[in-house]
Amino acid sequence: MTGTLMTSAVTADLVITGGTIVTHETTIRAALAIRDGVIVAIGDEESMPAAKETLNADGMYLLPGAIDVHVHFRDPGYTHKETWETGTAAAAMGGVTTVFDMPNTNPPTGTLEALQQKLALADQQAYVDFGIYGLLGAENIDELQDLAEDGIIGFKCFMGNTFGNLPAPSTGAMLEAFERVAPTGLRVSLHAETASVMAWRYERLRAAGRNDPLAHIAARPAVVAIEAVSRAAILSEWTGTRVHVLHVSSADELRPLREAKQRGVDITCETCPHYLLLNTDDYDRLGSLIRVNPPVREATDSAAIWDGIRDGTVDMIATDHAPHTPEEKCNDNIWKADCGFPGVETQMPLMLTSVNNGQISIHDYVRLTAVSPARAWGLYPRKGALIPGSDADIAIVDMARKTTIRESELHSTSARISPYNGWEVTGLPIHTLVRGRFVMRDRQLVTEARGHGRTVKPLQKMPPARVTNADKTLAAELAKAPAKGRNEL
Ligand code: DOR
Ligand code: ZN
Repeated sequence: MTGTLMTSAVTADLVITGGTIVTHETTIRAALAIRDGVIVAIGDEESMPAAKETLNADGMYLLPGAIDVHVHFRDPGYTHKETWETGTAAAAMGGVTTVFDMPNTNPPTGTLEALQQKLALADQQAYVDFGIYGLLGAENIDELQDLAEDGIIGFKCFMGNTFGNLPAPSTGAMLEAFERVAPTGLRVSLHAETASVMAWRYERLRAAGRNDPLAHIAARPAVVAIEAVSRAAILSEWTGTRVHVLHVSSADELRPLREAKQRGVDITCETCPHYLLLNTDDYDRLGSLIRVNPPVREATDSAAIWDGIRDGTVDMIATDHAPHTPEEKCNDNIWKADCGFPGVETQMPLMLTSVNNGQISIHDYVRLTAVSPARAWGLYPRKGALIPGSDADIAIVDMARKTTIRESELHSTSARISPYNGWEVTGLPIHTLVRGRFVMRDRQLVTEARGHGRTVKPLQKMPPARVTNADKTLAAELAKAPAKGRNEL
């Protein structure tokens, strides 16, 4: 803290000096001032307003905090795996300032009541900001409108089964749901794997006695993703519903994604570090730990996804943070191992290591983890940007800092198991700020910041929804039914 500044009128809460601010386009050596949780100035150190506190970030980079649009924090219902407290602590330690939580909790987030229950838990415990996904399924089709109006960030549709076994809606139910969601402008995120193909193959493989780790890929070959992505893109194009394809895992699903984008469909997609950094060569070493939906595939798939990242087909990186206990993960019979592993805490060090290795630029990294997610969900530039007026959500990173990932140190305390255990990484978040408040400082969790996290909702910054074929919706056709038929519905 500087004595002279202390004597003048205090106009900022915190000034960060000596760092380099990174955007998706450029880097600027500049100081940054924060007041009331918002960035109020960026410029020469001498031009900064007086501040209550100064942080010296010499040699460090200031990145917009990562927005992880795909986490499973398990609360309510599966708190023996993770809670809002442990999940968001892991996020804070990983430089992640906003998370979007998936609805396969218990109860699933498919009703207003379940949404309120989850919001209350998150509000009390969260270190970082959070969006809540509402479930889009056949059973809760009449709840979609209420959920859309009451504060969800978007919808999640399970086209294929995964943890929680929420039933995949039929294509008919999906079409009607899309017709209803389209006018809201909310994005539907898709677990795009075709349930019927996987169920068929699983039964046949299991009956034949296949229970080795690679049998998991055999039950879910890339064609399940290609088919589901293509079908989802068609429904999105027909109705005008915005969609997001979760966890792209294969080379071949990039084709329907590219084609849909070229046709102007509002479709975005993510991949996860495990599809970039792991492949079939890791199955022997990791055994059932590597089981995840969709599965980690061939090295050629990883290479194609890296290309997709560089050519802009893949819009963002999320983690599919899916904590389970070590006992639930480890089993000699692959079918008995739960799917997924924690990721929210390790994404940034792993991907900054890829930046250091020259795989992507640091600007790409900011685009993939902050700018694109904020834009796709209508949060930009309040989130995902370091400019005056934006929320002061900042990951302050040391690009030269080396460490070894140790699963025993993960903040997902019930799920201390990671495919990256023992990996050397270079590049680490040292401080994390959420709306101007430290939630991690000098690599320590700031436990007093528990409960600081707030929910985020899309701003009215999205272009209005482009609804198509509105005259052909089921609702429009049902309206033509004779009065008696309508009453029977
Ligand atoms: O492997 C997975 N596990 N994939 C998912 O999509 C869901 C997740 C979970 O909830 O455990
Ligand atoms: Zn998931």
